[in-house]
Amino acid sequence: MRVGVLTGGGDCPGLNAVIRAVVRRGVQEFGLEFTGFRDGWRGPLEADTVPLGVEAVRGILPRGGTILGSSRTNPFAEGGSGRGGVDRIKDNLARLGVDALVAIGGEDTLGVAARLHAEGVRVVGVPKTIDNDLGATDYTFGFDTAVNIATEAIDRLHTTAESHHRALIVEVMGRHAGWIALHAGLAGGANVILIPENPFDIDKVCGYVEHRFQTRYAPIVVVAEGASPKDDSLATSSGKTDAFGHVQLGGIGSLLAAEVEKRTGKEARCTVLGHIQRGGTPTAFDRVLATRFGLHAAQAVQDGAFGQMVALRGTDIVRVPLAEATRELKTVPAERYAEAEVFFG
Ligand code: F6P
Repeated sequence: MRVGVLTGGGDCPGLNAVIRAVVRRGVQEFGLEFTGFRDGWRGPLEADTVPLGVEAVRGILPRGGTILGSSRTNPFAEGGSGRGGVDRIKDNLARLGVDALVAIGGEDTLGVAARLHAEGVRVVGVPKTIDNDLGATDYTFGFDTAVNIATEAIDRLHTTAESHHRALIVEVMGRHAGWIALHAGLAGGANVILIPENPFDIDKVCGYVEHRFQTRYAPIVVVAEGASPKDDSLATSSGKTDAFGHVQLGGIGSLLAAEVEKRTGKEARCTVLGHIQRGGTPTAFDRVLATRFGLHAAQAVQDGAFGQMVALRGTDIVRVPLAEATRELKTVPAERYAEAEVFFG
């Protein structure tokens, strides 16, 4: 059997570890052959391939990014109805002799995988996203690395904030879910954590900031890029959208810093961590999770378990239907946010 592998959506540390494990197990244990598709769904749409064997995956375990490249191409958005994109993918797979696909991605990439499976394409999914917001798995790889990077940044910001008696606002990634903000904020001892699930009250935030200054420490505010105030007064977006209709975010941190400075009279600065959270080598946790996902994805292909996604439940890797995997986003529950609120101010 020849298996195509692709990585779609925002990249994240651990993608190469998945590719390596799928290929190593697939070739060595099951005698499968592999073809890499470049740049997510663009690869099968345009028949853009790269050879993928055991040699090609040597040495990539600790490397960030993806050797296959990624994109946010949506085959269902191509040519209006989307029908054209689906037919092109099917024709290309048949022409290239690719019998099955392993699609590694987040809600969008796996949403496409689920729809293609319904159209008869044999596909196994592997969940990834630094946002950790896929409902069907307890964790996605990339999240732990992003949290560690953000935590280290917060640790560093504490010392400079205190030297200069400034409030420092740290903007982290998290479009719909505030998991990175919550975990990094807790691990880094932030004074306020603001997440998309819980629109914030700017007066309250300024109250926490002022209280922190009174205790002679400098406040650190962690804000997820998708967070917004209750009254929408600071809501930001570039207005640009991707092929899946997501608005490009970014900017809430600077607006918040300006507002805090205006209202408290204290100097406030903003640090945007941005893509630093997505780059570089994965943590050991993410390498192990990604490797286990890859090993189980190869097994799923061998078993003919198409239309399924591998997922982490507790400490076990299980299979869930792709359709279920993309049905619901996993956002931060109110009680988890309430736990963190103990440390605010
Ligand atoms: O989905 C992961 C993610 O990093 C989000 O946290 C963020 O909103 C988005 O991707 C940014 O995507 P891009 O790199 O395409 O701007």
